[in-house]
Amino acid sequence: MNIKSIARFTFTTALFVACFGIKNALAQQDQRASLKDVFKNDFLIGTAMNAQQIEEKDPASDKLIKQQFNAVTPENIMKAEIIQPGWDKYNFDLADKLVVYGQKNNIKINAHTLIWHSQLPAFMRHMQSADSVKQYFVNHIATVAGRYDGKVYSWDVVNEALNEDGTLRKDIFLDKLGDDYIVEAFRLAQKAAPNTKLYYNDYNIEQPAKRAGAVAIIKKIQAAGVRIDGVGIQGHWKAGNVPLNDIEESIKEFAALGVEVMFTELDLGVLPNPWDNATADVSATAKGSKEMNPYSNGLPDSVQQILTQSYTDLFKLFVKYKDNVGRLTFWGVNDGQSWLNGWPIPGRTNYPLLFDRDFKPKPAFYSVIATAK
Ligand code: G3I
Repeated sequence: MNIKSIARFTFTTALFVACFGIKNALAQQDQRASLKDVFKNDFLIGTAMNAQQIEEKDPASDKLIKQQFNAVTPENIMKAEIIQPGWDKYNFDLADKLVVYGQKNNIKINAHTLIWHSQLPAFMRHMQSADSVKQYFVNHIATVAGRYDGKVYSWDVVNEALNEDGTLRKDIFLDKLGDDYIVEAFRLAQKAAPNTKLYYNDYNIEQPAKRAGAVAIIKKIQAAGVRIDGVGIQGHWKAGNVPLNDIEESIKEFAALGVEVMFTELDLGVLPNPWDNATADVSATAKGSKEMNPYSNGLPDSVQQILTQSYTDLFKLFVKYKDNVGRLTFWGVNDGQSWLNGWPIPGRTNYPLLFDRDFKPKPAFYSVIATAK
C-alpha cells in the first residue's frame, strides 16, 4: 500500500468516524431533549391527537407523543358531531381507545368539547323546540362527561361562546336556553364528573374586550356557586405577531380569579392571511393564490428565525408565570398534521409547530427547551 492510498484510507476512515459521531450526537441530543421532562416542574405539555394517532396507526407520531408530551387533547373525536351522531346513538369507540392510550402511557387527557356551536350533530343543528335542545343539552353532558369521569383529567365544558367584543355568541344554545346556558353546562358537568377538572376554552380571549367577556363568564359561574377550575386560551397566533403584552395581562387577570390558566391550541402560523385579524372560525374560508402559499418548497431561514423568536418569547413568558399556567398544548404533533395547512385556504404548506414534516425538531424546539429554568 503506497503513501497515497494509506492517506486516502486514513482520510475516509476519519470522515466516516466524524459523520457517524455527528449523527450519533444528534440522535443522542434528540433523545435527551424532551418538552415534558424539561418543564415537568412547571406545567403540562400537550398535543392534539387525531384519529389515526389515537388508533396507533402512525408510528412516527406515536414515538414523538410518548417522548415529548404528558397531556393530549382529541382534535375531533370527542366533539358532539362525532361522539353523539343520533338522539340515543353514541360512538365511544375512539374516545375509549384514547382513555386506554392515556392510561398505558401515563398521559393526561383533556377532553374536547361538550358544548360548542360548531361540529354539532346533524339531528340537533337546526332544532326549533327549546325543550328538545334542553333535553339534548342535559343528556349529552350527563352521558358523555359521566362516562369519562375520572378517566379523563379535564373537560373543555364550553368552547368559543364569545364574540370578539366580549358579548355572547348567538348560537342555538343562547337562542333556545338563554344567557344562563353556560352556568347550567358547568352545573351539569360538575354533577356528572365530580372527579374531572372543568374549563372554559376560547380563542382571542387574551384580547382586552373578549377577555372581559371571559372574565364575566367565570365570575358568573363562581357567583352561582358552581365549579370552574380553569380557562383555556387557545393561542392560534401568527409568528412575528404574538400579542405578548395582552397574553401577560390575561394570565394575571384570569389568575386573579383563582382559576388555572392554560394555552390549549398553540400554533404560530407563518403564512399570510386573507385578512389581518386572526380568527379560528372555520366558516370563513378564502380563495387561494401563490402569494398566499409562498413556502410550498420549504421555509426560508429568515422565517424560521421569526418563528423561533416568537416561540422563545412566548415560552419565556409562560415560564415567568409558571405558578399560574397549568398546561401548554400544541394543536398538532408536527407541521404536517396542522389544521393550518387547510384553513383558511385549502392545500397550503404551513409550518406552525415545533416538529417538521419528518418529525424532526425545528430550531424553535431547541430554543424553547432552553427557556426551561
Ligand atoms: O372526518 C371527515 C372525513 O370523513 C371526511 O372525508 C373529511 C373531508 O371533508 O372531513 C373529515 O372531517 C374533518 C374533521 O376535521 C376531521 O379531520 C372536517 O371536515 C374538518 O372541518 C375538521 O376540522 C377540524 C375543525 O376544528 C372543525 O371545526 C380540525 O381538524 C380541528 O383542528 C379544528 O379544531 C378547532 C378546535 O376544535 C377549536 N378551536 C379552533 C380549532 C381550529 O379550528
